[in-house]
Amino acid sequence: MEALRASILHCLADPGEGSKPSAWEYFEDGLLAVHDGRIVDAGPADAVRARLPADIEVTDYAGKLIVPGFIDCHVHFPQLDIIGSYGAQLLDWLNQYAYPVEAKFADPDHAREVANAFVDELLRNGTTTALVFGTVHAHSADAIFEAAEARSMRLIAGKVLMDSNCPEELRDSPDSGYAESKALIERWHGKGRLGYAITPRFALTSSPEQLAAAGKLADEYPDTWIHTHLAENMDEVEQIARQFPDSRSYLDVYEQFGLVRERAVFAHCLHMNDQDRASMATNRAAAAFCPTSNLFLGSGLFDLTAMREAGVCCGLGTDVGGGTSLSLLRTASEAYKVLHLREHALPATQALYLATLGAAEALRLEDKIGNFEEGKEADFAVLDFEGSNLTARRCAAASTIEEKLFALMTLADDRNVAATYVEGRLA
Ligand code: GUN
Ligand code: ZN
Repeated sequence: MEALRASILHCLADPGEGSKPSAWEYFEDGLLAVHDGRIVDAGPADAVRARLPADIEVTDYAGKLIVPGFIDCHVHFPQLDIIGSYGAQLLDWLNQYAYPVEAKFADPDHAREVANAFVDELLRNGTTTALVFGTVHAHSADAIFEAAEARSMRLIAGKVLMDSNCPEELRDSPDSGYAESKALIERWHGKGRLGYAITPRFALTSSPEQLAAAGKLADEYPDTWIHTHLAENMDEVEQIARQFPDSRSYLDVYEQFGLVRERAVFAHCLHMNDQDRASMATNRAAAAFCPTSNLFLGSGLFDLTAMREAGVCCGLGTDVGGGTSLSLLRTASEAYKVLHLREHALPATQALYLATLGAAEALRLEDKIGNFEEGKEADFAVLDFEGSNLTARRCAAASTIEEKLFALMTLADDRNVAATYVEGRLA
């Protein structure tokens, strides 16, 4: 057993727009005890120390802040090298930037190199779990699973299904996509901390036959995840309406193929109505809010209030490479700005929730990760208020933890992540 001494902050529920005090716990001088990769205890240092063996080894992070490891609910590892590509909205951006960079993943060595760089970058930013898109190539999923497994990370990923409206060299077929996904599920799903996500890119790039095959897999393997995009861009939504004239809405296309169920995570969810949100809630599907991407690609403004009022679980996603940062602190800052345009002032504690416990709930992993309840997996980040001169000055001028955390999320980058722990071990 070992313990870490620092300030400790974690969420117990959604603090909501009012930063409800009972929804989060803060220990200014805290102690976090870990054994065998699990949380044993967390609380005020004096009280926790009295409950622990006298000879316990304590790592001192005085002045720093320990938070649960960040959870990225939507990201594309193959797009690492096209972050910040100029000038296009979604459909042109896919053709100009995303598809060409994904075509390079025909080479398994390239896939492995990017996968390793990607997970190291996650850890550098305090992210310990992610729901990850691969490319159409089955070995892209092998590459990201191998990289996560080597670091003991809890990570969910899948090979992309796409058989139409995309470059020839990036197409699978309903049969090959089904067979390859099935083989990957058998190989990786539930292996250690890894999970498989059935990953149709979006309804524009899968034929009805392929969506049906994805639905069949989802039915055959009910504890796998489903990961796709939904209602991100207005041109996309209009094309969906033309391609699926009998569907009530974009979400309804996925519903018809059995893809709206528990453990289904839909990225973006911008251009939706109340009926769609109610249906997502009833079916226990979740939304990934990707503010840096939504601003960068000019896609639109996520409506967190409407989603939460409808009862939909929501987590933050970076959506790199449409998104512009792998940092969930940076992402939280853009979430604040998006929501401000909707007259919702996102409290720092609610932002933390969306990047930790809320994201765990969206992935249905809240029994394993997301906060420091006893028995949960010991994944956490040590944040450094003094990571840069500016954050040091700004945080010194702040009086409450909410104010300090808000300053961090507005100003921080990976310099403010002093350490990341995975299963209780320094990564
Ligand atoms: N919709 C379909 N594919 C993609 C993608 O790669 N990125 C984003 N942001 N949206 C998509
Ligand atoms: Zn995406």
